Amino acid sequence: MKNASKYAPGFFPPENPSADWARRSRIERAPRWCAIDLRDGNQALPTPMGVEQKLEYFKLLVALGYKEIEVGFPAASDTEFGFVRRLIEDDLIPDDVTIQVITQAREHIVQRTFAAIKGAKRAIVHLYTSVSKAWREQVFGKSRDEVADLAVYGAKLCRTCAKLNDGCEITLEYSPESFTGAEPDYSMEVIDRVLDAWQPEEGREAIVNLPSTVSLASPNIFANLVEYILKNLGARKFVTLSVHPHNDRGTAVAEAELALLAGAQRVEGCLFGLGERAGGADLVTLALNMYSQGVDPCVDLSDLPAVRRRFERLTGMAVGERQPYAGELAFTAFSGSHQDAIAKGLKWRAEHPNIKWSVPYLTLDPADIGERAGADVIRINSQSGGGGAAFKLEHAYGFRLPKGMKHDFGAEVGSRSDRLERELTADDLHRIFMAKYSPKPYPLRLIDCHFERGGGERIYTALDCEYKGDTLRLRGGGNGRLDAVAAALKSGIDLDFKIDDYEEHALSSGSTASAAAYVGVDVGGKIWWGVGVESDIIFASINALFAALNSYIAGGGATEDRQ
Ligand code: KIV
Ligand code: ZN
Repeated sequence: MKNASKYAPGFFPPENPSADWARRSRIERAPRWCAIDLRDGNQALPTPMGVEQKLEYFKLLVALGYKEIEVGFPAASDTEFGFVRRLIEDDLIPDDVTIQVITQAREHIVQRTFAAIKGAKRAIVHLYTSVSKAWREQVFGKSRDEVADLAVYGAKLCRTCAKLNDGCEITLEYSPESFTGAEPDYSMEVIDRVLDAWQPEEGREAIVNLPSTVSLASPNIFANLVEYILKNLGARKFVTLSVHPHNDRGTAVAEAELALLAGAQRVEGCLFGLGERAGGADLVTLALNMYSQGVDPCVDLSDLPAVRRRFERLTGMAVGERQPYAGELAFTAFSGSHQDAIAKGLKWRAEHPNIKWSVPYLTLDPADIGERAGADVIRINSQSGGGGAAFKLEHAYGFRLPKGMKHDFGAEVGSRSDRLERELTADDLHRIFMAKYSPKPYPLRLIDCHFERGGGERIYTALDCEYKGDTLRLRGGGNGRLDAVAAALKSGIDLDFKIDDYEEHALSSGSTASAAAYVGVDVGGKIWWGVGVESDIIFASINALFAALNSYIAGGGATEDRQ
């Protein structure tokens, strides 16, 4: 990148920051959230929402539990103004919700803003003026004092209008826009002068909102700035410190979190990080980051897929597949080792339900937010392993594969998915499993078998079977029925094998009860697997043995005889 010399850090870090925030490790309670989707978010959409869409979005935010909602920039357009009027005139603002409207420091804009909120029970009027060095020099062409005067002018206008607005409880909020590109002492001076003009008091608080209008530095710098402003607010009372990070450097959530550690009490942001350019602080991620640490975020995200669908429909924006928590793939494991750990973690959790959530790779239980949970977090492709494939098969079809068989099945699934170049569903896995491991009628086929007890524990069998087209009657004895059948087979056919593994379990209950049996046979040091599913466990195991032997013959032994 040959042009790096064109750039230099454009921010002003506070000197000797106290960085107390760096010694805190946990956000202990949810801040006051202010959802600014209908203003900051909406103004950044290629096609901004109309009144009806904004109304539906407002209802969504209310239903999720947001209590402060910036509903628009009423002086900016008739739609914005009309929307605020609609909320008030149709009495759509719940008693515990406060709307917020934004204004610039110009008389007719402030007046129209106050006209928009007439009749509301409560409102936050949000005044902003830009303070950065770049703005002062390039946009305003004004000195530090002149730019500060503009903020004070706006602040006084707002205070006067607020006094005249009978019956409406008004909170004033000030944002030093482009704060991240201003000298900290200068931002503080402007904030101080605005607060002097407002004189907040009990019952008439003020909000100071620090925006990273454009994020210019790593999030620790923002935290240092927040802490600097907070310390310099000193003994001022009735002032709430709010933050409003943007995501230019991909760190809006980090800025919000570090700002909370630094003492901020309120966060402005949007669902899924909607907002100008790279967006703003994602309220969903922030809330669920807290939730997954045991802190109630005080908003209800228990059906996140439904929120995502409504968001996408109303805004026309897509939530990325890798978006934290909300993305289609945010909880999905394709890789074999991840799947194995998740499957074991979920099993361990089922056995230890009272222990705090700690399943590997899953920061929270996806079921808590309505996302695919349990076996559904595991999806199978060519990167997957036997653990994941077996876990999915077990959850969908009840098969509990022995460990060795999982590896064998995983290899088959991996190569099948590789060849097909697609993901495999649970039904695909079942088809592959049955095709590979269930008994084939050739070259070895069971016709019938009978057992009788000999002396002690010994069992004898008379076995009728077909081998490579010949019908055989074989006899054998062993310590159990499967052992006896294996001995009978070895006596009559040219196969030198031994049973290496055997497991069985009930597959279903009730009148259609069935059992699954798995047999691994060792032929020359390599294990071949078969499964049998029957209502009778003995026949399930004999079928599994026949399936394993046919598999060996087809795959390595008498291949020339394969039908
Ligand atoms: O990002 C920003 O600075 C803003 C202000 C207008 C508060 O949205
Ligand atoms: Zn913004």
